Amino acid sequence: MYPAVRPRRLRRNAALRRLVSETDVRPRHLVLPMFVHEGVSEPVEIPSMPGVLHHTRDSLRRAAVDAVRAGVGGLMLFGVPTRRDASGSAAADPEGVLNVALRDLASEVGDETVLMADTCLDEFTDHGHCGVLDDAGNVDNDRTLRLYGEMALAQAEAGAHVLGPSGMMDGQIGAIRESLDAAGFHETSLFAYSAKYSSAFFGPFRDAVDSQLSGDRKTYQQDPANGREARREVELDLAEGADMVMIKPGTSYLDLVRQTAETSPVPVGAYQVSGEYSMVEAAAERGWLDRQRTVLEMLTSVRRAGADIVLTYWATQAARWLRDEP
Ligand code: PBG
Repeated sequence: MYPAVRPRRLRRNAALRRLVSETDVRPRHLVLPMFVHEGVSEPVEIPSMPGVLHHTRDSLRRAAVDAVRAGVGGLMLFGVPTRRDASGSAAADPEGVLNVALRDLASEVGDETVLMADTCLDEFTDHGHCGVLDDAGNVDNDRTLRLYGEMALAQAEAGAHVLGPSGMMDGQIGAIRESLDAAGFHETSLFAYSAKYSSAFFGPFRDAVDSQLSGDRKTYQQDPANGREARREVELDLAEGADMVMIKPGTSYLDLVRQTAETSPVPVGAYQVSGEYSMVEAAAERGWLDRQRTVLEMLTSVRRAGADIVLTYWATQAARWLRDEP
């Protein structure tokens, strides 16, 4: 009799399929990135990211409560300031938009969720780069490290539990750790954007933060062609004291999620970025893709590749879908 081996036996009904399913996505695995905008008096939809908002302080609070009620594992906060300067000084200002909003969220949901903050200068500089520039107009790595140290302190003081350094400066994890420890913030964790690629998939995000950037980030973010280099970046961040590491973007970089999950003894995150979100939303709007099935399949794929944590703009929505599942 042929075939004797029949994998379809385990797919014949829903109960069997459920029993043998290898990969789970639960709300607790998801982290919601959120944008608070200093210059809006009502929440405003970001044109290139339908369904994602520029929040006021109040609407941010409400959306955070919603996300926490839906069961998401954490929130990652980005700030969009109205004043910018060459060194991004609002980033370290306790009255800067991100730090004010962190204090709001710390008091609103700080005991119930993991509050994370983007630690990077690009939203705050008038040139849009992730660091300060030297006289020749190049990003000055080591001077930027000092500013990251100050920004990190302001965020820890404002109540962030986890910082996400995303600027891809050499030595940033060590510099931030040192700055936090010197001020007694031993318990503030670092979720390092270890392998962050210079990606076209960040396109819609640039709208989301009113990016001032002209040019690109190729002198600090990685070349999409380089996979082994991710290993080096991860190793460095671990040696410098990263508590968790992240790969970004997600879907096109699942080989690196897998590689990192296999070799790193810390939790691994993957950031499903703005372009991944907007592509699916645009196709779903046209009826070309089934939104819910597509989103859940993508999240499952990122988890299957080995990510413990997935940062996704669908976090609240997906958490609701997942809670209805058995
Ligand atoms: C930099 C930062 C970026 C994103 C997160 N942090 C943008 C960039 O590097 O240009 C991208 C997020 C996304 O595209 O969803 N602070």
